[in-house]
This record gives sequence, C-alpha cells and structure tokens, in this order.
Amino acid sequence: MEDDPALQLTIQTALEQKGYTVAAVFTTGEAIERLANEAFPVVISDIYIDERTGLDVLDAAKRKDPHCAVILMTGRGTVETVMAATRGGAFDYIAKPFELDVMLHAVARAEAVRGEDGPEAEDEELPETEMIGSVPGMVEIYKTVSRVAPTDATVVIEGETGTGKELVARMIHRFSGRGNQPFVPVDCASIAPSLLESELFGAMRGAFTGADRDRAGVFEAANRGTVFLDEIGDIEFNFQLKLLRFLQEREIRPVGSAKSKEVDVRVLAATNRDLQRLVDDGKFREDLWFRLNVVRIVIPPLRERRADIPLLARFFVNKYNSRYNRDVKLMDSGVRSLQDNTWPGNVRQLQHVIERLVILANRVDASTVQEALAAMESREKPVDTLAEAEEDQIRRVLAATGGNKSKAAQILGIERKTLYRKLERMKL
Ligand SMILES: Nc1ncnc2c1ncn2[C@@H]1O[C@H](COP(=O)(O)OP(=O)(O)OP(=O)(O)O)[C@@H](O)[C@H]1O
Ligand SMILES: [Mg+2]
Repeated sequence: MEDDPALQLTIQTALEQKGYTVAAVFTTGEAIERLANEAFPVVISDIYIDERTGLDVLDAAKRKDPHCAVILMTGRGTVETVMAATRGGAFDYIAKPFELDVMLHAVARAEAVRGEDGPEAEDEELPETEMIGSVPGMVEIYKTVSRVAPTDATVVIEGETGTGKELVARMIHRFSGRGNQPFVPVDCASIAPSLLESELFGAMRGAFTGADRDRAGVFEAANRGTVFLDEIGDIEFNFQLKLLRFLQEREIRPVGSAKSKEVDVRVLAATNRDLQRLVDDGKFREDLWFRLNVVRIVIPPLRERRADIPLLARFFVNKYNSRYNRDVKLMDSGVRSLQDNTWPGNVRQLQHVIERLVILANRVDASTVQEALAAMESREKPVDTLAEAEEDQIRRVLAATGGNKSKAAQILGIERKTLYRKLERMKL
C-alpha cells in the first residue's frame, strides 16, 4: 500500500516481473479491510499515508496472520516509528528513497523466512536488534541511531562490557539502506596483530606461509554492507595507519597483491576503553580517532539507568519463557532486587541471571534473585579439582531449585539415584 501512484506502480511492476501477484491499494482503510478478510504472506506499506498509518496496517496484517511479513517504507523515519515498527513485529523497515533492488531483496528474504517457517525455524538464533529501554539517555541514543543510520557516517560506540554496543551497531545497520547486505563483526582484540591485516584486507596465495589460496578479507566480503570493528582501541599502532588510509580511500590492497580494489563498506567501531585517554597517552593515533569519531555514541552503564531494569527484566522473562516453554512469574520483589544490584556486567549479566532463573526457578522474587546472583558470583571463584567442581555445580543447582532433588537431577542430567549417592558422599 502506497499513496504515491508512480512509486506504487514501480514497485508493483518490479514485483510482477519477478513473478509475484500484487494486490494494490491506496488508502489505509482499503488495506485494513482487505487484510481483515484475507491473509497475505507479504505486505508492503508506506508509513505516512492518511489519518491512519502504516503501523495500523502492520497491526491489521499481524492480527490476521502473525507470520505475515510486513515491510514498511518511509521518507521520514523517526525513532518512535522505527521503534513502534520493530515492536509491532515489522519484518523490515526501508528508508525512502530506496533502490528497487533493496525492496526486491526484502521481499525475497521475507519469502525465504516464511518458506522455512514452522516449529524448527523458531529455534533459529537470529541476531537480535531489539533494544529495550526508555530512560532519557537511551531515547537520545535511539534518536542518534535513527538520524545517523541512513547516512554512511562512521560511528564510534563506547560503553562498558555488556551495555549493548553491538546491539546499537546492528540497529544502525538494520535501519540503514544496507540492511539487506552483510553485517560483519570483527573482534580486533582477539585476532593476532600479525593476522589482522590479512583478515581485513585479504591475502593473495603465497603471501605468507599457510596462505594456500587467495582469501578475501572482511572488507571485501562485506561489500555494500557494514563492518563492525569491535575493540578498536586494541589495534596496534602500526596498523592504525593502514586502517586510516582505508577509511580515507575506501580501497583495499590484499596482502601480497600489487593491486588495490575499491569497496563500498560502512564502518562502525566500538570500544570499552576510553579512546580519548588512549589518544592522550599516545597509544591511539589522533588522526584515526578524528576519522572514526564522526559520530560518537556513549552507552551508559546499567547502574546509571536503573529505571529501565523493570522493562528489561520483563522483556527477558518473556523471551526466555517462550524460548524454554516455561511460565515463570516476575514478582515485584524480584524486580526490586534486580534494581538494587550494581550489574558490573551490565545488560548481558542481567540477561544471564534471568535466563538462569527462568530455567531453574518457578518465580523471580527477591530470594531466587539473590540465590542466582550468589551462585553466578561463586562460579567466578576458581575451583581446584574436578570433584570440587562437581560438588559446586550440585550445590548451585540445588540452591536454584530450592532443594528439589528430582528437578536438580534432571537439570544436571543424571539419575536421581546417582544424585542421592553423590549427596551422601558430600554429606548433604
Ligand atoms: N537495551 C537492551 N535491550 C535488550 N537487550 C540488550 C540491551 N542491551 C544489551 N542487550 C543484550 O545484552 C547482550 C550484550 O549486548 P552487546 O553484545 O551488544 O554488548 P557489548 O556492549 O557489545 O558488550 P562487550 O563489550 O562485552 O562486547 C546481548 O545479548 C544484547 O542483546
Ligand atoms: Mg560486543
């Protein structure tokens, strides 16, 4: 559904050439009425049309068929609509103007996803792009994301571990015109400095021992998409210059090759170190810092946005309830307990605690939260022998099941008899 007849016709013609049957409507009223009577596998709708919006169309389509893939287009993306579209279960969100290819790609992907629908497909781990949180600091971030996404600007995302840096990068990618192209994360800290160059730029056969064939680098593999350089603060000083050149020229020269090729990639970077400090200390090139830092997004630690904890907790409880087919309740006392914690591991840690509770507990209340936090902390403590590790695990699972031995045995994957024997030996 699209109210601009020229654009409508262009999309319709392109789709029909690809063999799709298209039902075109020009007002939200018509769209909603048709959707009430008939299920469509894919719905394409503009967001701003008349008094009702594409979000109403999305709603109508989802009500008729929850698996319907709704693709929304808009020339005026605001964070509210982007977020509402994501929450409402839109399959994709395309910013106008777009190339027809982008739309055709989205439709083809929607079809592919539907094709593999059914119980199995639900287990598929799609990378998550939904970001939860509504404190002013997070809303500022959404605004920046929605403004910067459609541009090709380089963005540096800073924040402590587990604050959602990669999630923000994925959102930027998703809401850019590159959303249907690859998003390739590279953990610069875990790749040996000597290999980073060939990893990013590629290498010709024979460039070094072990290079038995030409290998494309990340920048080439991600052509037309986005490369996410994680832990950018950890790259070696010497390599920083090569990266800077790449950012200036958008050309790669594979290791061992004399020729350069042009590539079209957007670069996003993240770090949990203070880059400005590294620059001041002479460990990070200032020119590279300026080049990367066109837009800077700093994600606050979770302890500075505690008001979002109830929202996040509910989101994760729902998520894991449906993933593990459980019906664990989130109690007020549990929410308060979660809000009191300091969360050094930020949202990731909160997510893990809740996942554990959904699996092991019947409700998320103050006492199960405290148990889970204590158990997860003790996991950090080193244990010496295998027997100690086993006893530790048994104690933790028992604590989490509230002493229910059958359930503990089930979780531990051993017979109840075996658990009783072990408990006797442990004098428990
Ligand atoms: N606001 C949020 N809403 C929902 N999930 C979130 C949010 N923030 C983080 N997460 C989830 O927490 C986990 C950690 O996020 P992410 O990987 O983006 O963190 P990070 O900042 O890259 O951490 P690290 O520095 O350790 O790599 C992910 O599973 C992510 O989906
Ligand atoms: Mg990360």
